[in-house]
Amino acid sequence: MAYETIIVDVEDHIATVTLNRPDALNAINSELMTELADAMSAAQSNDKVRCIVLTGSEKAFAAGADIAMMKDKTYVEVFTDDLFGPEIDAVSRVRKPVIAAVSGYALGGGCELAMMCDFIIASESAKFGQPEINLGVMAGIGGTQRLTRAVGKAKAMDMNLTGRFMDAKEAEAAGLVSRVVPTKKLMEEAMGAAEKIAEKSMISVMAVKEAVNRSFEVPLREGLLFERRVFHSLFATEDQKEGMAAFLEKRQAQFRDK
Ligand code: HXC
Repeated sequence: MAYETIIVDVEDHIATVTLNRPDALNAINSELMTELADAMSAAQSNDKVRCIVLTGSEKAFAAGADIAMMKDKTYVEVFTDDLFGPEIDAVSRVRKPVIAAVSGYALGGGCELAMMCDFIIASESAKFGQPEINLGVMAGIGGTQRLTRAVGKAKAMDMNLTGRFMDAKEAEAAGLVSRVVPTKKLMEEAMGAAEKIAEKSMISVMAVKEAVNRSFEVPLREGLLFERRVFHSLFATEDQKEGMAAFLEKRQAQFRDK
């Protein structure tokens, strides 16, 4: 598929997906959603890809869903089309790890898109917000759910009700982002993290992702049991034998995803 609203670059086991609608600060329209879903599925089925980095521009990761696209839609249309349903959710369904590298605005659907990723690395200039309330609507793809799980009720209510933005420092302190780095170093840091992940056994990587995500879905006792059983299951892999042998032999493990 040829892309118009994103740029995909696969190099050294990392697929970098760059949102590319600069005139609209990467606002999410139907085309972008379709292309993003296609890029996620292509990355998932490409054996060379071991980690995905999702990013935008220095000014904006994404300033939200495309307001011009939504403005005249009726309830019947958005309900019938399930607007912002399965397609954008492709980012949260991909089994390979996805790092969001966020600079500038990550607002509304942009903040929600970043939260669909496995973790967020933010530049010092990043600004997160759920300003949909200013448009007479509300968050629609995770701003009241994932944000609440990430930062707790007080900040999630504050962000969603007042529409104020959170800067990178506050986002890191609140647990929304995993690290804050100088703006010029954002991609270097994100690629470094992706390279670290790419060195691991893909089986362990996907298992970790499933287990951490499971913690949001089930009670603690169920989650712990799931974790332990997945941990047990990794003893069926060659990579477990290799990883533990390599440690004891004081050498670098050579994982083969088997
Ligand atoms: C469509 C957008 C846009 C958006 C910006 N633009 N955000 N177009 N949808 N969400 C466009 C502007 O219209 C403008 O186009 C150009 O991008 C540059 O934006 P400016 O406003 O001129 O830039 P600036 O003054 O720097 O302000 C940046 C900003 C502001 C603070 C990010 O653009 C802004 O507040 N944007 C809207 C943020 C928002 O409300 N997001 C939530 C959307 S609803 P022109 O043609 O004039 O140059 C949503 C629903 C989620 O996300 C639920 C389901 C997914």
